[in-house]
Amino acid sequence: MKILGRKRDEVKKSVREGNVTIAVYGLGKMGLPLAAIFADHGAKVIGVDVRKEVVEAVNNGENYVKEEPGLDEILRRNVQAGRLKATTDGVKASKEADVIVILVPTLADEYELKLEPVYEIAKTISRGLEAGDIVITESTMPPGATESLIPILEDSGLGIGEFGLAHAPERTKTGTAIQDITTNYPKIVGASDEKTLEAVVGLYETINKKGCIPMSSIKAAEAVKVFEGVYRDVNIALANELALWCEEQGLNAIETFKAANTQPYCHLHMPGAGVGGHCIPVYPWFVIRLAKKRYPKLIRIAREINDSMPKHIVELLIRGLNEVGVAPKGSKVLVLGLTFRGGVKEFTKSPALEIIKELKDWGVKVYAYDPLCSEEDANKFGAEWKEDFSDLDAVVIATDHEEFKNLDLKKIAKEMRHRVIIDGRHVLDKKVVDLGFVYLAVGVGKL
Ligand SMILES: NC(=O)c1ccc[n+]([C@@H]2O[C@H](COP(=O)([O-])OP(=O)(O)OC[C@H]3O[C@@H](n4cnc5c(N)ncnc54)[C@H](O)[C@@H]3O)[C@@H](O)[C@H]2O)c1
Repeated sequence: MKILGRKRDEVKKSVREGNVTIAVYGLGKMGLPLAAIFADHGAKVIGVDVRKEVVEAVNNGENYVKEEPGLDEILRRNVQAGRLKATTDGVKASKEADVIVILVPTLADEYELKLEPVYEIAKTISRGLEAGDIVITESTMPPGATESLIPILEDSGLGIGEFGLAHAPERTKTGTAIQDITTNYPKIVGASDEKTLEAVVGLYETINKKGCIPMSSIKAAEAVKVFEGVYRDVNIALANELALWCEEQGLNAIETFKAANTQPYCHLHMPGAGVGGHCIPVYPWFVIRLAKKRYPKLIRIAREINDSMPKHIVELLIRGLNEVGVAPKGSKVLVLGLTFRGGVKEFTKSPALEIIKELKDWGVKVYAYDPLCSEEDANKFGAEWKEDFSDLDAVVIATDHEEFKNLDLKKIAKEMRHRVIIDGRHVLDKKVVDLGFVYLAVGVGKL
């Protein structure tokens, strides 16, 4: 049933009664939980992905996004009930759907915005678009980009108004996606007209207990999500800059930040080895690239500071090796963690990869270990896989995996040739020093 033009309560009822078909394009770490949750609230859901293996897994009721607790069960339940299926045929899905959600990666760097997957999907959708359909972008979009899909969608022969367009950004993170989508935050919604806004608010109120924040425009809704990311990037850069200053001054940044953050207007983030993933280091470029007269200097400098942190980790390592009389060239160093953050197997812009490159430039023999990865992953990034600590001169912690918080340091101390630990994520505490380690961490200097 088409929901465009219907009041929110009517939309909620129709979704719950199984009368609304939703196509979700992109069954990745975000799209798959979203598709499963829509189905779990009664909608008929068609997931669309270009990866055949993903489509096959979903149709077998198998969850491949292992990092998402609870998703196994929701997925199985809804595939079995016939409410969720997947396909690679995006045109057919568009023809069958009343609501179409786009949730594929949007990237950018210093040089360009990279929105090809979204434009490609819009072309596919236009070939199946019908009057009364609503297209929603959930991918994070540079402000203005969702509306740039209108001419592509109008290739369907329909004009905007005959179909609706909205932006409702995904405000989640891997590991808590189910709670984030259903209970943790309100949904931000901007739409092409009042009728679309009303229907889309009804749709998300069906799955989100916190409800919606309707925005005055699609562009305003896009800006909300982008600004969230920029805030975090700039805040982390500030934390990193103050942490480097603390190192020079012989202060412990973590101690000072924790105390400062007890004041309600201070929210300093954690300093560390750098910022990775396809969100926080990307969204600042959406703002920078779109700026016209006023260049966003602060945001640009924040990017530079955060991008420089892997180099700082290597500086700390060289200092650590110096303490034990070992030259970097020919030293043996284990990098713990390849992924950009703990608990998620994602390598995009991972600081660990920059650290490995930089260490190799110094002539270091680099080993790597990551509980979520394989030997092939380590080799792909230029490191040799190593699961023990024998013969090492130093260890660099690049990712905050839970496993690294519980390392058997007594045993490790006995195995290593020299005891140097560079903690890029503040996962260890002072006790390491009692075991004879030279311990250096961002913002802490030498303990
Ligand atoms: N991962 C997060 O924590 C997070 C948080 C908030 C917002 N987001 C937003 O969601 C987007 C997607 O993130 P993700 O983590 O799900 O990415 P992902 O890489 O895990 O998944 C993307 C999926 O899209 C599929 N895909 C790519 N091109 C396609 C096409 N043309 N047609 C159909 N499917 C296609 C891929 O095969 C993949 O399965 C991000 O780029 C960002 O804009 C992500």
